[in-house]
Amino acid sequence: QADAPACPFDERATAFDPYTDAYMANPSELVRWSREEQPVFYSPRLGYWVLTRYESIKAVFRDPHTYSPSIALESTEPPTEEALAILKSYGYALNRTLVNEDEPMHMARRRALMAPFTPEHLRQHEPMVRRLVSEAIDGFIDAGEADLFRRLTWHVPFSVALHFLGIDDDEDHEKMHEFAIAHTKNAFGRATPEERIEVAHTVGKFWQLSGEILEKMRRTPEGPGWMRYSIRQQKHHPEVVTDSYLHSMMMAIIVAAHESTSFAAANAIRLLLEHRSVWDEICEDPSLISPAIEECLRHDGPIASWRRRTTRDVVIEGVPIPAGARLLLVVHSANHDARQFSDPDLFDIRRSNVIDQLSFGFGVHQCLGKNIARMEMQIMIGELTRRLPHMQLVPQEFDYVHNLAFRGPQNLHVRWNPAHNPERRDP
Ligand code: HEM
Repeated sequence: QADAPACPFDERATAFDPYTDAYMANPSELVRWSREEQPVFYSPRLGYWVLTRYESIKAVFRDPHTYSPSIALESTEPPTEEALAILKSYGYALNRTLVNEDEPMHMARRRALMAPFTPEHLRQHEPMVRRLVSEAIDGFIDAGEADLFRRLTWHVPFSVALHFLGIDDDEDHEKMHEFAIAHTKNAFGRATPEERIEVAHTVGKFWQLSGEILEKMRRTPEGPGWMRYSIRQQKHHPEVVTDSYLHSMMMAIIVAAHESTSFAAANAIRLLLEHRSVWDEICEDPSLISPAIEECLRHDGPIASWRRRTTRDVVIEGVPIPAGARLLLVVHSANHDARQFSDPDLFDIRRSNVIDQLSFGFGVHQCLGKNIARMEMQIMIGELTRRLPHMQLVPQEFDYVHNLAFRGPQNLHVRWNPAHNPERRDP
């Protein structure tokens, strides 16, 4: 039995439940006890071994042979027969992409497809990101209040993702939002049997839509975007860029290319506004925005945890773990490990080793889109500090989609006095 518990008697391990507001709000706090006393524990509730310290999590990321990423997008709970039948009726067959592909196929594929992520290519997208951010802010700047999640941090990364991938921006954004949430619940969440039925239908429709978009692109392969680039690369590397890969990636990347960026930006804006003196400082000196973003990604990053599976027996932090075991790497906890980051709960935009943060993962699978995400955050926060330096966070409850991986609020209400907008005072 690969996943048999080694420490079944620790009640804190037994009680560990990541599908809660407390986990979403602050995963590192919920596993503080583990980080300090028992850095590897078995969660019988999840069937996962949970890792909470920086060094061991980084070591796992560093070794994709011993720690396979194959379960990165797997449903955290096995689907019910009924949900499986529904998914099947839509022809659902999500398989390997990049993030869940093993070596040596993963590196062959990553090499074949990575050119559009290089800094030279990314620079071409900057005017588009600036335009989208300006238009979004124009839409609410005179209103005196806005839900920044809805109006900016969800909407902009979503449009940027479509543009980067080469998908026409005429898809129904609300519907796609619903699809993204269903995909997150399906891969990383826990649902009641009724919810699973609904999620299975939505995920099935998302899979079909992804296939339709792919087929449409195949008719115009010379057109723009990373997915058409991938279609063209299929001609040169048919064994590496397979049909199954293209369809799976189309669905997975529509979510991956925007969801974590939306949450990263929302978490960062919230954190900055909660630390008013830091917000005021970056309004005064925009050169501080870039280090502030990195510290936001460390302190309040959008990835709660990520997953790997052991391919052989291992010992981590003195705990023997068998081959075939599932590991939950609590990335947020790694980013709050005092062994790596001094005074880790302090929000310090001048932290010297902030670049060591693990929100983008580490090693061969490290996020390919990290510089697009950073550019988007830079432009969103840059424009907000320039055009709405006086905005305030509205006291509010934050809603979360409970899941293991993506963490960020579904709402971010702010308000300000439009009469004090700098562009009104100094047009
Ligand atoms: C992989 C986080 C934005 C595309 C990953 C991984 C993480 C991550 C944790 C897995 C790393 C690992 O297994 O070691 C983030 C965060 C983002 C973000 C925090 C925003 C703040 C984006 C964007 C794109 C993107 C904007 C695309 C436009 C990818 C791809 C991979 C990946 C293609 C797979 C790389 C591979 O396995 O070789 N990301 N991501 N990500 N991300 Fe991101």
